[in-house]
Amino acid sequence: MEYGFWKTKKVLITGHTGFKGSWLSLWLQHLGADVYGYSSPSPVSDPNLYETAQVSKNMESIYGDILDSSKLEKVIKRIQPDIIFHLAAQSLVRESYADPIGTFSTNIMGTVFLLEAARHVDSVRVVINVTTDKCYENNGESAQGFKETNSLGGHDPYSASKACSEIVTSAYEKSFYSHSGKLLSSVRAGNVIGGGDWADDRIIPDIIRSVINKQQLKIRYPHAIRPWQHVLDCLNGYLLLAKNMWESGEKFIGAWNFGPEDSSIWSVEQLIKESNHHLGNKLNWWSSKSEAHVHEASRLVLDINKAKTLLNWKPQLTIHQTIEWTMGWYLESMNNSIADISLQQIKNFEKLKAVQFS
Ligand SMILES: NC(=O)c1ccc[n+]([C@@H]2O[C@H](COP(=O)([O-])OP(=O)(O)OC[C@H]3O[C@@H](n4cnc5c(N)ncnc54)[C@H](O)[C@@H]3O)[C@@H](O)[C@H]2O)c1
Repeated sequence: MEYGFWKTKKVLITGHTGFKGSWLSLWLQHLGADVYGYSSPSPVSDPNLYETAQVSKNMESIYGDILDSSKLEKVIKRIQPDIIFHLAAQSLVRESYADPIGTFSTNIMGTVFLLEAARHVDSVRVVINVTTDKCYENNGESAQGFKETNSLGGHDPYSASKACSEIVTSAYEKSFYSHSGKLLSSVRAGNVIGGGDWADDRIIPDIIRSVINKQQLKIRYPHAIRPWQHVLDCLNGYLLLAKNMWESGEKFIGAWNFGPEDSSIWSVEQLIKESNHHLGNKLNWWSSKSEAHVHEASRLVLDINKAKTLLNWKPQLTIHQTIEWTMGWYLESMNNSIADISLQQIKNFEKLKAVQFS
């Protein structure tokens, strides 16, 4: 029911060469949108989904720094997009300890430059800023889950930079966007998993690398609780929100959590065990509980009732399916076209969605 909507839209994705940006680009291409991307010229990892799935084939890719405000402004003026998804960011917690200045610059001033450039271009009607579930002040006790109205915070530079990006978004919405008929929202998701992620220090790529390289996987926080979510469930929320903002306006501006059902809130250890089952128990892993590590919240849970109630969005995949689809992608990618596998998963996901919307 919502697919026709995208056929007439020009969409700009910042961070389109990243894990989520590549999936979003592929999905929007499949939906018939006119897709453009703006990202740093350096690949996010080697290998990476953007190159292996030939994402650039059916879109225009522009390479530049999000902090190059004059280039960014020229690009947005030239493209004249209808909708912008802002995903470009330094996205890793551990890297933010190594490079706090770079992380704060990219994630805060990058958001400012994007919102500033977009507000001067008449064609732009909807902007969605992608932050994270880590933007909440987390004392590890949020048993019932963070709501969108909870306080922002952030112990590490990455989380704090994203909380700041949230504040920037809210200020731009109130100060500029609401006065000019433009619609601006932020989306908070986290622990997104799926095929094609090869980033350092993320659990799924770490598992796959360990199996391929026949090396032991060392787990830092086996008992950390996380809301694991398939990348397509998360992106489905972003797409649904953009469409609702476009069609129904102000009712949908603000912050939105997109996370899994409570039954998908598992420990790292549970995730590893189930993943290993799909990999034929080839993973050799151990947990290093006694070593000192950088701070990570022991528990992180999101309340997703706002998106469920107002957007009629809900996660389509159970935790078991999420892991099965993810491990299936990596296993199939060893012998098949990555572009084909990824497109097939998008089509399979749409079939599940069709059931929800029928
Ligand atoms: N993957 C997750 O589990 C997760 C969870 C919560 C939030 N997020 C957020 O979602 C967004 C996308 O995440 P991802 O996993 O795809 O990240 P990623 O690291 O795979 O990709 C990041 C993208 O941003 C671009 N980028 C980084 N610095 C840039 C700069 N200075 N100028 C221009 N482009 C730059 C990269 O080129 C790449 O395209 C990020 O904002 C991230 O913080 C991701």
